[in-house]
Amino acid sequence: MTTRREFLMQGTASAAALTVPGTLTAQTSQAAELKARTAAVQLAPAPYPKTEIWGYGGTMPGPELRVAQGDRVRRRFLNDLPQASSVHWHGIRIDNAMDGVAGLTQDAVAPGGSFDYDFVVPDAGTYWYHAHNRSWEQVARGLYGALIVEEAEAPDVDREEVLILDDWLLDPETAQIDDSFDNAMMMSHGGRMGNFLTTNGRFDLSLDARRHERLRLRLINASNARTFLLQFSGLAGWTVALDGMPLMAPAPLEDVLVLGAAQRADLVVDVTAEDGETAYILRIGDDDQVTSQVMFPVSGTASRARRDVPARLPPNPATPKPDLSDARRLRLVMAGGAMGRMDGAFLGGERLGFRELAENGRFWSFNEMAEMTQTPLAGLSLGEPVRLEIVNDTVFPHAMHLHGMHFREIKAEGNDGPMRDTLMIRGGETREIAFVADNPGDWLFHCHMLSHAETGMMTWIQVT
Ligand code: C2O
Ligand code: CU
Repeated sequence: MTTRREFLMQGTASAAALTVPGTLTAQTSQAAELKARTAAVQLAPAPYPKTEIWGYGGTMPGPELRVAQGDRVRRRFLNDLPQASSVHWHGIRIDNAMDGVAGLTQDAVAPGGSFDYDFVVPDAGTYWYHAHNRSWEQVARGLYGALIVEEAEAPDVDREEVLILDDWLLDPETAQIDDSFDNAMMMSHGGRMGNFLTTNGRFDLSLDARRHERLRLRLINASNARTFLLQFSGLAGWTVALDGMPLMAPAPLEDVLVLGAAQRADLVVDVTAEDGETAYILRIGDDDQVTSQVMFPVSGTASRARRDVPARLPPNPATPKPDLSDARRLRLVMAGGAMGRMDGAFLGGERLGFRELAENGRFWSFNEMAEMTQTPLAGLSLGEPVRLEIVNDTVFPHAMHLHGMHFREIKAEGNDGPMRDTLMIRGGETREIAFVADNPGDWLFHCHMLSHAETGMMTWIQVT
């Protein structure tokens, strides 16, 4: 005899049309698919041909995943690419088995294979997902999308826009993706820098706006290595969250917003440009030239005057503040790169000189290791407070990202920095971060300039 429950389960397995009450549907239904595949998209303007990309769902960016805080995300990842892949959910304080790091938390999913991701999102905020196998190639080919976790109570804005910034390295003749991913020059310098800049896959993104309209902008830097320096014209407002985590109070926008690789910023801005004018998000280039990143043509008026300072975003579930007095002290020295002083480092158990390392495709080191080691940077016990000093003994900036836990920067004045998952550290700088090791598992800690990570700037910590 079959029970009612078994019947329902068989029913949904064979006939998707059968509808059953809510909770049963949730337990028995298949997870939605997230398929990585090749696609052709019009990145460069016609008459350039379409560009062959790798994208989730064949779109660029991938589908926006939007869930309520505390909800489960379930996706069956299907790999329809010619290369093994995995999906990392960047910035989520996630169950370690779902972190998507090929070679550490799971095996890479072979072409034709699948992997079921299923996790709870504890924090509201702006996050993103991206490939985490050969990421310096796969993210550059377009494998990323936004993961938005909504607050129970939405902030008081007229509308919101998710803006994913990227730079593509395209062949200027064919508009196809330059496949010199292992270019030694780029790897040993600032990383793979693109020559074609987009927002949400468009070089000319234009969003209609009204005067005094209040917008929430969710900015995500999905580029391989570029630090975006942004300015605002005809838009005035506040930063309300960084790397998903709300600030204690909205911070008025400064002259330049620095958004390093993988970082996010949530802004609340008012359109101050006049009706008929255009407001802009501007980007400062390497040559100090200012160009438009996103245009907001203004037509009509949303309200007579600007509104008051917005309320802070509701705080996320508290993560414990580390007690610094008896925190475990760790130190990470980053070395290498062009024009650096690294004379050698360990690779495969052998100490090699800089030249030999370069011949083996390694240009950087963490604590004199030019590769991910068998043993973690540190084995921490669950709940242990940590302070980690990071010495950037190179001439390049690096965007240091910790998986699984957010951290605070310890500032000299005794003021803690905001909670972040990715910290920009300039050449020659020493910075210190602190966190409580409250999420068990194996967590990667690496530079998010993805070709740096691949060529030596990757380590991990273990929390047990
Ligand atoms: Cu956004 Cu290890 O990555
Ligand atoms: Cu780096």
